[in-house]
Amino acid sequence: MGSSGDDGYRLLNEYANGFMVSQVLFAACELGVFDLLAEAPGPLDVAAVAAGVAASSHGTELLLDTCVSLKLLKVETRAGKGEHTEQPGPRSKTPFLKKIEKLTGRGGIHLWSQLFGSVALHARSEGERLQFMQALQDVWSVNGRSVLTAFDLSGFPRMCDLGGWPGAVARSNEIGLQADLRVPILLPCVPGDFFKDPLPEADLYILARILHDWADGKCSHLLERVYHTCKPGGGILVIESLLDEDRRGPLLTQLYSLNMLVQTEGQERSPTHYHMLLSSAGFRDFQFKKTGAIYDAILVRK
Ligand SMILES: C[S@@+](CC[C@H](N)C(=O)[O-])C[C@H]1O[C@@H](n2cnc3c(N)ncnc32)[C@H](O)[C@@H]1O
Repeated sequence: MGSSGDDGYRLLNEYANGFMVSQVLFAACELGVFDLLAEAPGPLDVAAVAAGVAASSHGTELLLDTCVSLKLLKVETRAGKGEHTEQPGPRSKTPFLKKIEKLTGRGGIHLWSQLFGSVALHARSEGERLQFMQALQDVWSVNGRSVLTAFDLSGFPRMCDLGGWPGAVARSNEIGLQADLRVPILLPCVPGDFFKDPLPEADLYILARILHDWADGKCSHLLERVYHTCKPGGGILVIESLLDEDRRGPLLTQLYSLNMLVQTEGQERSPTHYHMLLSSAGFRDFQFKKTGAIYDAILVRK
């Protein structure tokens, strides 16, 4: 897709995720993060903020890092630890936000979530639900090519798209695969539970947006299962949105990580975090590539 198509997709993505930004702002306000930092005698680290607002340290860390990317907070690293302060401006954002919130915040969010129902004349049918799910897969028509061409996959003739819907990533780029990569065989879709059922034999297992759904323990369990089924020389292509090593960006990936906190037990991870999970399961030759688009690629071999 040309750059104007990429820009159009980026813009749509920004609008579609805009609600996450306001939720970060209101959650930080409601928890009292801005008040705490405005009243503290100096910068506070994640543990101090989490204790001060009675929140989980993992969730607080994600929230604070995202606030930094949104320029709502500032961070300085001292002795390897991030210490947060409010951005200069009004002494605390809270009074202003409290007023805004009356108009657009919690109550507003509830009302706005009904916009579809208020505008549409009919409820969403099963067919529309399927179309909606299909639309979720459309990211691969934009980003599929960049992740599948990130590495030379020509040594992996049989590919299995684990947790694909069905085989969404690879199929979206079938033409690219055949023309550029000469990897023609995507194994047929088999129903099953990848945590319990025997996995299909393949040379390359694609795990696209799978690991980010799960906590580290479940990821390790799945990766160990793939390792035991995989033949030596085979591998895994992990497709995920990669966090920077300091976890302070990219903003969209931070928002996705908060989305995972809200909807799943998972999170977005940095390359080092994936390296730890994949190497503990036995995989070697870790390589990763930031594609510059939303999703990035990691390749490992057995
Ligand atoms: C976030 S979606 C990603 C889908 C696809 N790989 C993609 O990137 O478009 C997660 C997928 O994992 C599948 N899934 C979740 N738990 C599973 C399990 N235990 N066994 C097999 N598939 C599972 C879901 O059905 C869903 O299709």
